[in-house]
Amino acid sequence: MHLTLVRIGLKNEDQHTHTPANKAGSMGGERFPEPYQQPSSKAPSSESVKWIQSQVTRHHQRFARSIPLIASENLVSPLAAEMFSSDLHNRYAEGLPGSRYYEGNADYDPIEEHVESLAKRVFDAPFADVRPISGTTANISALFAISAPGNRFMAPELAAGAHISTQRFGAAGLRGLDTITYPSIPETMSIDTELAVEMIARENPDVCYIGQSVYLFPSDVKELVEAAREIDATIMYDAAHVLGLIAGNRFQDPLQDGVDLVCASTHKTLPGPQHGIILANQDRQLANGKMLHRAIRSAVFPGVHSNHHLHKVAALGVSLAEALEFQADYAEHTIANAKALAEGLWERGMKVFAPDHGFTESHTILVDVSEFGGGADVSLRAESCGLVMNKNMLPGDTSAVSPSGVRLGTPELTRLGMGVDEMDEVALMIHLAAQGDRESEVRQRAAELKKRFNSLHYCWNVGRGAYADPEFSPVN
Ligand SMILES: Cc1ncc(COP(=O)(O)O)c(C=O)c1O
Repeated sequence: MHLTLVRIGLKNEDQHTHTPANKAGSMGGERFPEPYQQPSSKAPSSESVKWIQSQVTRHHQRFARSIPLIASENLVSPLAAEMFSSDLHNRYAEGLPGSRYYEGNADYDPIEEHVESLAKRVFDAPFADVRPISGTTANISALFAISAPGNRFMAPELAAGAHISTQRFGAAGLRGLDTITYPSIPETMSIDTELAVEMIARENPDVCYIGQSVYLFPSDVKELVEAAREIDATIMYDAAHVLGLIAGNRFQDPLQDGVDLVCASTHKTLPGPQHGIILANQDRQLANGKMLHRAIRSAVFPGVHSNHHLHKVAALGVSLAEALEFQADYAEHTIANAKALAEGLWERGMKVFAPDHGFTESHTILVDVSEFGGGADVSLRAESCGLVMNKNMLPGDTSAVSPSGVRLGTPELTRLGMGVDEMDEVALMIHLAAQGDRESEVRQRAAELKKRFNSLHYCWNVGRGAYADPEFSPVN
């Protein structure tokens, strides 16, 4: 028996400073998170492998009994996931199909070409680059393509749902951009189009950015594009959250409305691999003198990436093929579930954001939980009950660490086949968890509900459970 274990943290509660257990306390008499043990530094190295395997299995089993409500997460289809462990995972393909810096891509190059053509078909886009490895690297690449240090960059403010990419401490700052924020409408967390149009004319930005991490309602893209065109600004749309709703024709069509380019993650409402994409409209010469398509190509490589992730490109191809088949239906149910969840919470007296506007037109809702101790406390307490969500700023909040809200999303629950009836049960659990009552009952309810919904929908069914235990080889 080689296992040498060291117990972390839980012997001495004073040392245990960062886990939900501190805030959430015990869950119905049981500790959360449960005690865990890591192999000691003296243990045989194979023990590390076994331990990592067991932790990953624990993670699967935890998700099998939890209610996943993170708006930016989803489940990739089994057919797409099969690409992750293919040999493509280990290969290099710097450059573009047909002109690589490495040999060995004879079979991969046609795949990348085909995945690009699938992306163009799904989004009716004249141009697609499927190499960015995440939404953030897509944004950084785009900013390198379309802007220069010192340029003026206009985007929504953080408290109005903007992503860190738009901030001085994120991609925009990294590119040396001078950031200006649009005026926003606090009741809907949207850009105030009328004031923004005036501001664009007055401030003369080089780049106008549309897109949010809390994206409840479509933006007035056409009006913003028109204003940007007047001053020859480049206009980019960040669809990280809503790419799948766009693919399903259920949110808006920014390319059709005239933006120059769309950057996105491919693993949120589009339930693909963790990856990124850049789509673009017809080629044109930008104010910086560069041609749009070429500028994107060279910013993606050799600008921001060296090698991209070939296995993810192949997986994205599978997900895009599935999107052609299932996405319209999936997007429609995802939005219907978000609205139903909002209704269920509202009927129980919870302060769901934007009640006068129907709460949401997307996969996301926001809830002001200050009466229950604020977003940080509620999300930690909910996790100990088996409900996974994140804290979120609401208009007027100044701290991202202790904001008044929580953000809830329906992409994963919908993917599991849940419908509006189940949303009422989920709303009940959220309400109980926020109050801090009946923790073990909520945990049990969550596990019971999940037992009935444990396979993936809106993809080709290969009969595998959504959170089935991973198959690991024994380590000798
Ligand atoms: C609006 C927006 N843009 C970009 C990103 C970054 O995406 P990724 O996590 O793929 O880097 C996010 C992430 O949630 C986002 O919300």
